[in-house]
Amino acid sequence: MNYAAITGWGMALPERIVTNDDLEQFVDTSDEWIQTRTGIRERRVAQPGERTSTFATKAGQHALAQAGLSPKDIDLIVLATCTPDRPFPATACTVQANLGIPAGAVAFDVAAACSGFVYGLQVVTSMLRAGVARNVLFIAADIFTHYINWQDRNTCVLFGDGAGAVVLQPSQEAYGQLSCVLGSAGEHEDLMAVEAGGTRLPTTPELLEEGRQYVYMQGREIFKYAVRDMAASSLQAVEQAGLQPSDIALVIPHQANLRIIEAIAKRLKMPRENIFVNLERYGNTSAASVPIALVEAVEQGRIKDGDHVLLTAFGGGLTWGSAVVRWGREGLIAR
Ligand code: ACO
Repeated sequence: MNYAAITGWGMALPERIVTNDDLEQFVDTSDEWIQTRTGIRERRVAQPGERTSTFATKAGQHALAQAGLSPKDIDLIVLATCTPDRPFPATACTVQANLGIPAGAVAFDVAAACSGFVYGLQVVTSMLRAGVARNVLFIAADIFTHYINWQDRNTCVLFGDGAGAVVLQPSQEAYGQLSCVLGSAGEHEDLMAVEAGGTRLPTTPELLEEGRQYVYMQGREIFKYAVRDMAASSLQAVEQAGLQPSDIALVIPHQANLRIIEAIAKRLKMPRENIFVNLERYGNTSAASVPIALVEAVEQGRIKDGDHVLLTAFGGGLTWGSAVVRWGREGLIAR
């Protein structure tokens, strides 16, 4: 069976930076509280006119350039997002059009909140290995601040916007995703949600007045499940790949909260320097958080060819997932 090597990568962020000090101006919080409880210092926030496809398209362009492919080479575009441009069509189709990927390529979205990158990686890897796709553009992008009530200090300090993308191609060598463990717990769907705007509760002026179009979250509860499920699925994914935790060169965790990341590191018995953290600059960028961290880790030389990298994420649903990826792109099967 072929493997699905990651041969290109890219990211895109809004230019606007909102610092903790900026938030202090309009909500009852402090830089000290936010840094101590979350590790976040600032986040990027999309401006009016910028939409999820804006950043998804830019990240996709960078990933294609890095892979040395042109849009006409791509036969599958998958976009992990829970903040699509519109309820339908899939924002992946908008990205297809923006990038000039020819008609006939397959394009669809995957929704798994903050776990979207790990979920989507399993989907595209499976399709590539099954031979139904060849050159894949996989993007994760969210404008989560679209759902933020900037008066709600429980949520507004946590999130930011952005996109990360990878290109996958078939390889004879064991590169790309080697193992993956996914899970969901719908019984906890109400721990975090946006109530209004879907078919369950269509938007009305009254609901808008009540602020039901915004995200709510029981942070303390989610914290516990996040640590438990990311740590357990990480250990399973490492075992499934036939490895020990000590074989992992770098862990790329979902960037939600530094305390969550530190608790996971402890459970995995991983030294802190083997865990990649960039949440101080971006906050929680939802599905985009893992690929943005992955791209920065590669650009900083933290990941080298042949390294085993552990990705782990957790989000609304509840959903979680961990995957072991072997970095490198030798032995590609000729196009
Ligand atoms: N500034 C100041 N005080 C605050 C703020 C704030 N921004 N937010 C909450 N507080 C207060 C609370 O009101 C509370 O006060 P009280 O004790 O008087 O009631 C106190 O701080 C402590 O609140 P906790 O909720 O216990 O704080 P905690 O230490 O749990 O941190 C946090 C809250 C940061 C939300 C944490 O629980 C967390 O990170 N949870 C996980 C969130 C997450 O990972 N979500 C992932 C999914 S995201 C997705 O799927 C898109």
